[in-house]
Amino acid sequence: MRYGYFDEEKKEYVITRPDTPAPWVNYLGSPEYGAIVSNNAGGYSFAKSGANGRILRYIFNQFDQPGRYIYLRDNDTKDYWSASWQPVGKDLSEYKSECHHGTAYTKMMADYSGIHSEVRYYVPLGQSYEVWNLKVTNCSDRKREISVTGYAEFTNNSNYEQDQVNLQYSQYITRTVFCGDRVRQMIHANLDGLKDGEEVDNKNVFNRFFGLAGEKVSSWCGDREKFLGRYHGYNNPSGVEAGVLCNEGNYNENSCGALSTVITLEPGESREMAFLAGMKEDNEAAEIIAHYADCEKTCAVELEELISYWHGQLAHFQIRTPSPEFDTMINTWNAYNCFMTFIWSRAASFTYCGLRNGYGYRDTVQDIQGVIHLAPQMALDKIRFMLSAQVDNGGGLPLVKFTHNPGHEDTPDDASYVQETGHPAYRADDALWLFPTVYKYISETGNFAFIDEVIPFANKDEGTVYEHLKRAIDFSMNHLGRHGMPAGLYADWNDCLRLGKDGESTFVALQFYYAMTILKEFAKYKKDEKYIKYLEEKQEQLGKLIQELCWNEDRFIRGFTERGEVIGKRTDPEANMWLNPQSWAVISGLATERQADLALQMVYERLNTEYGAILMDPPYHANAFDGALAVIYNAGTKENAGIFSQSQGWLILAEALCGHGERAFNYFLENAPAAQNDRAEIRQLEPYCYGQFTEGKASPNFGRSHVHWLTGTASTVMVGCVEGILGMRPDFYGLRIAPSIPKEWEKFEISKDFRGCHLHITVKNPGHVEAGCKKLYVNGEELPGNYIPQEKLTGETEIEFYMS
Ligand code: NOJ
Repeated sequence: MRYGYFDEEKKEYVITRPDTPAPWVNYLGSPEYGAIVSNNAGGYSFAKSGANGRILRYIFNQFDQPGRYIYLRDNDTKDYWSASWQPVGKDLSEYKSECHHGTAYTKMMADYSGIHSEVRYYVPLGQSYEVWNLKVTNCSDRKREISVTGYAEFTNNSNYEQDQVNLQYSQYITRTVFCGDRVRQMIHANLDGLKDGEEVDNKNVFNRFFGLAGEKVSSWCGDREKFLGRYHGYNNPSGVEAGVLCNEGNYNENSCGALSTVITLEPGESREMAFLAGMKEDNEAAEIIAHYADCEKTCAVELEELISYWHGQLAHFQIRTPSPEFDTMINTWNAYNCFMTFIWSRAASFTYCGLRNGYGYRDTVQDIQGVIHLAPQMALDKIRFMLSAQVDNGGGLPLVKFTHNPGHEDTPDDASYVQETGHPAYRADDALWLFPTVYKYISETGNFAFIDEVIPFANKDEGTVYEHLKRAIDFSMNHLGRHGMPAGLYADWNDCLRLGKDGESTFVALQFYYAMTILKEFAKYKKDEKYIKYLEEKQEQLGKLIQELCWNEDRFIRGFTERGEVIGKRTDPEANMWLNPQSWAVISGLATERQADLALQMVYERLNTEYGAILMDPPYHANAFDGALAVIYNAGTKENAGIFSQSQGWLILAEALCGHGERAFNYFLENAPAAQNDRAEIRQLEPYCYGQFTEGKASPNFGRSHVHWLTGTASTVMVGCVEGILGMRPDFYGLRIAPSIPKEWEKFEISKDFRGCHLHITVKNPGHVEAGCKKLYVNGEELPGNYIPQEKLTGETEIEFYMS
């Protein structure tokens, strides 16, 4: 079943049926002011932090309420509805609507009883408040009087948990007053006698507002209970039913901002207005509202700016292939998804309530990879930040606080860090993600100076980027398990594998092997002969160990427990076949061709399903070892044999590196949201963004996906597609082109910005092969092989690549 379609030109997903199987959301705003809005206007907003800056309230795990509601009421018939289908929820045979989720804006259109409404939700570029720009048109042939009411439910405390849980406190610090064109909410208003800079118990007065520009407020309400009325809900607020609000604020209990205006519309006439909300001092709020006096003009300009900004970001990498699903994901939705994970990490969605008040090390370093080809400067700032969260022993801080203070942080070796973050120990993989990320950044930009840039460590000391990477190698070398492979520590990529300090993880061993290959490139650049030798020796030893200990006839095992038991061997009753060691054996360059073929074939036979490859098989149930936490999940779910979608990205890459274009692309399609647009009732999640996992074949809900938007899937699949399928493989000195595509593709094109040049690449495949290079022309000149040295690039570079 399908609920909408992709509008390629506008880069929008258009929802044509509002009764979607789950709230389908969009992200608005920036790190200064974040806002999430669903196709039924449910959602919340926050300044800087989803945990500590919550402004508009949302009740998680409920009915997608409350939200940014706009009610319309015909004052003759007294009938009312909402500009989004919910919360009033009119009969869909009479109520027609469309929701257009675009890049950082959402537009909702509704037609009901001869009235057309259009509301555009956005956060203006560079601003920290939100705009709900509404246009109402009378499409009937009689004069209409319409009451328009905007409703914003404020939290009573900026801290999400305090607002939801500590009611004996949070309900008694809030009050609202009316200021002509706005409801002003004050928190801790009783402290208004304090002088500038003074605080009581770290508290002072602060303000939020909900205002109206473009029309006059006719009535208002600042008290949630008075607006809704006892035994009423968001679908039938008393204030809306009555046609006039009570003109009272709240003093204690729950605040809200509700503003009504009455407009009269001749047939064909339209009126435009803007509701505005944010956390601002009252004088600033007044200025903001005044800025929208001519809201039609102001909002049009702001939306245009927003669209050009985002489309400009996406323009750095665009493709045209025979697959519309692939194009829409790479050109728009996967890319936008990568920007959102880059900005919001795992902080705020409809699944994450915002309480993880910091950046997960591995997640963030991986997220960066998804935007390097689009916005390398943005990536650079975050890479610096993450390097500054590396402890001087080379390990990563498992959680990097939003208040991170490089050079002065406690580490997992300090009880205070453990107490504050809840992370009791180092994880084996965190700092190893730096290698591909830093390498990709330098290869994309040619910014070699970065290698020598000095960056502090998290706790003390500082070092060049090169030194940081060397310390990451030291960390793994200093944490080896009983066979001499990297220890599993508190976890590796898989949160549910506790292998401990004596246990060992094949995945981390492969990452470590790969890290050494990458660092050799840096060492060569630095002409650091001694270190090259060191890496060569250690890598050879490690390679031998992995080959001896981890290859099990047709697959790589998953690792060793603290007691030395093998995990993931062929004869295990459960979890005897794991996905990640197979794909990573290829990505790391360790697997021989024979091993790669066998292991990937086993993945295909044992793990693949129509929605993607499951993480392992069979699920844990009765035979889980002590550190196999996955057993806590229902079989077929999350790490317990779910389709953990991030791993699909590595599988795409591994197959593509082997030149298996058919399989690589098939793996893309299986789990690609856009490719499931007509199976929304199964997938349930938005058909335009990735989810963390899809329920596997052991679940009765096989195919249902979860944990939308904020997932490592976004960046990993992006890398799998761009580097793998499309074959864009920059290195320090140029660009290698090595597509791995479905045979039926005869031609595709890539428009890519690269090191200050613009490349227009046409790949032709008249002989219908999956991979290979027959000829390469750069600006008409034939080059040997499939590699373009940097010197051959010009401002506009025309590249023709013949696969066959
Ligand atoms: C989600 C976590 O955010 C991520 O860090 C982890 O790698 C995956 N789960 C797999 O366990």
